[in-house]
Amino acid sequence: MSETLTIALSKGRIFKDTLPLLAAADIVPVDDPETSRKLILDTNDPTIKLVIIRATDVPTYVRYGAADLGVAGKDVLMENGGEGIYEPLDLRIARCRLMVAGLPGGYEGARRLRVATKFVNAARAHFAAQGRQVEVIKLYGSMELAPLVGLADCIVDLVDTGNTLRANGLVPWEDIADISSRLIVNKASMKMKHRRVQRIIEQLRRAVDGG
Ligand code: ADP
Ligand code: PRP
Ligand code: MG
Repeated sequence: MSETLTIALSKGRIFKDTLPLLAAADIVPVDDPETSRKLILDTNDPTIKLVIIRATDVPTYVRYGAADLGVAGKDVLMENGGEGIYEPLDLRIARCRLMVAGLPGGYEGARRLRVATKFVNAARAHFAAQGRQVEVIKLYGSMELAPLVGLADCIVDLVDTGNTLRANGLVPWEDIADISSRLIVNKASMKMKHRRVQRIIEQLRRAVDGG
């Protein structure tokens, strides 16, 4: 029997959107992470396991080799460093945009801009490239609230439909980056388990390309 392959996923939209791609690679989980409390899920293939972790932890598991493969948002890779891992494939799922948003009126009036975000590195890099002085306030969620209560002038957050911005009276100010989820691979696994890893990459690539 061949060695075990471990794939790291986060539950929610990444798990849901990755399922059909995995199915195309003949990988079908036995348990559903939305109902099971298990963190290691068996699949139809006894040599392939899924580990279910926080989205921001996926690159860490893959970098250390605790998972051979993983699926991570480009936002997470930009923010926490995609260093030390391979990123062979854009899975084109969980697509959204990283944006600056705030109250209508934009940058008007604000001198030293206060920016609330969980993407502190991406935000600093974006405003530094513009030569704009900013104070970055780290938050862990509900960023859209910050401009409403005077915590910040604007936010850097993910936007998909724009519903969350609209529901809170905010508008997009600027685009920072197009985001989608990427397949990531541990560097040692790519060498040591080359044939199996490469086969999965190619099957996923075909599924993404619609074939
Ligand atoms: P978290 O609990 O960390 O917010 P999510 O499942 O919401 O986990 O997000 C996982 C990834 O999905 C993000 O890193 C991002 O790449 C993408 N994403 C987040 N929000 C949206 C959205 N509203 N629409 C599409 N993709 C999104
Ligand atoms: C994400 C993101 C925005 C929202 C944008 O939140 O942080 O708040 O989606 O999507 P929209 O433009 O379609 O409204 P998510 O739904 O992941 O909730 P979370 O706070 O649990 O991460
Ligand atoms: Mg989210």
